[in-house]
Order: sequence, then structure tokens, then C-alpha cells
Amino acid sequence: MALKKFVAGNWKMHGLSADLAEIKAIADAAKAYPSVDVALCVPAILIERATRAVPGLPIGGQDVHYAEKGAHTGCVSAQMLRDAGASLTIVGHSERRDAQRESDADVKAKAEAALACGLAAILCVGESLEVRETGGAVATVLAQLDASLPDTAELGRLSIAYEPIWAIGTGKVPTVAEIAEMHREIRGKLDQRYGADGAVRILYGGSVKGSNAAEIFAVADVDGALVGGASLKAEDFLPIVEAAAAG
Ligand code: PGA
Repeated sequence: MALKKFVAGNWKMHGLSADLAEIKAIADAAKAYPSVDVALCVPAILIERATRAVPGLPIGGQDVHYAEKGAHTGCVSAQMLRDAGASLTIVGHSERRDAQRESDADVKAKAEAALACGLAAILCVGESLEVRETGGAVATVLAQLDASLPDTAELGRLSIAYEPIWAIGTGKVPTVAEIAEMHREIRGKLDQRYGADGAVRILYGGSVKGSNAAEIFAVADVDGALVGGASLKAEDFLPIVEAAAAG
């Protein structure tokens, strides 16, 4: 089953009021590609202003706490994201798994909290360079996935992002064969876990650019991309959306 392509931008810790104009430029240009789902995951503090500025473009968070509410200083709940106007969130990005010591169990609980609240979730997995070089990439990613996948999946609202850590922000990209192998394995795991209806989209992330997007989107079981650096400017992001529409 061919799934509608999904291209999500991850703005990470970038974005001030002045950048709302860029978000608007991205939203306006994305309207030309109705065959692609486009979304931007922005800093939590910018979500409400972004949704007001671009009512047509899904805006998401980059993380969510797994608890509904409580004594969690500095954290944001799924309900708060929704209240601010978000319709999706990233969970388990490697920058949080590493720097914030998030475990697979944390990521699973976050995905479940997001889905239960009506948000879509992009659940990230990916191996380190050392693991890739020693031949353990597939086993590592499948184990990560096994322990991070939500038990209660609203499959249409769940996406997986395969993001090799060594490809994030480095300009290095796995070979087409490596992407194909990993996405096939992830699809197999999802089929095993949820049944083979194939509704969960599998995105590739890590140094996706206008210049390599078409080649990546042509790979079987690549249903879109999670884009960091190249999502910050409309002129860099739109060629990726265009490649998804053409693919
Ligand atoms: P990048 O980041 O596109 O800048 O490599 C991707 C990501 O971390 O989601």
C-alpha cells in the first residue's frame, strides 16, 4: 500500500518571533503540494503563535512528558501541546535520548501519552556510528523499536523516523541499500507488532536535503522524511516537499 508521503521539519532549538515569517513562507509554499503531508515541529514556546500564523499547516512539539500533569518542572504535557494548537509531536529524538538520558520505556510512555491525547507522534530510532561500523545497526534499531513502540497504536497517527545518529547534522547519509534494508526491517517489525496493514509511515531522517531527497524517497518503505537543518528556510525545505510530491 502506498502511503501518503509525510515531510516534517524539526526546528530543534531554533525559532524566535521574527521567524514566524519563515513559517508562513513554508506554509504558503506547501499549499502547492496537497499530495504531501507537511508539518513543522517548533520549540514549544512558539507553537501557539505558529498555529495562529499558519492555520493550515500542522504544527508540532519536539517532545512531550508522559504524565498528564504534576510536579515535572520545565516539562510540557500532551494536553498542553494540544491546548497550544499542536497536532503532533516528536518523541525519542536521539538528541533527547542522549542528552536527557531518555530510555526506550520513557519514549514508549511518551508516544502512548501523545496518541491517547489525540496527537500524532513521530517516534525516532537510530544507531550510533560505532554500532553501524560493527555491523549491529539492524539489531540495535529493532530492539530500540520493540521497546519504544506504543502498545495502543492509533496507527494512522503514528510514524517512525529512522535517524542514524551519525547522519544527523553531519551531511553524511547512509547508502540507498542501507536505508532500504533498515526500512524493510522496520516495516517487518511493525507488521509483526500491529498486523500487516502497513498504515504506519516510516520516515528517514539525517541530512536530508533538496539534493538527495528524490533518491531517498525512491527507496521502498520510505514514506517521507524528518528534516532538521534544511527545514529552517523555505528555500531549502520546499525542494524536499517537491521531491516527495514527485516520488
Ligand atoms: P538534520 O537533522 O536534517 O539536520 O540532519 C535531522 C533530525 O535530527 O531530525
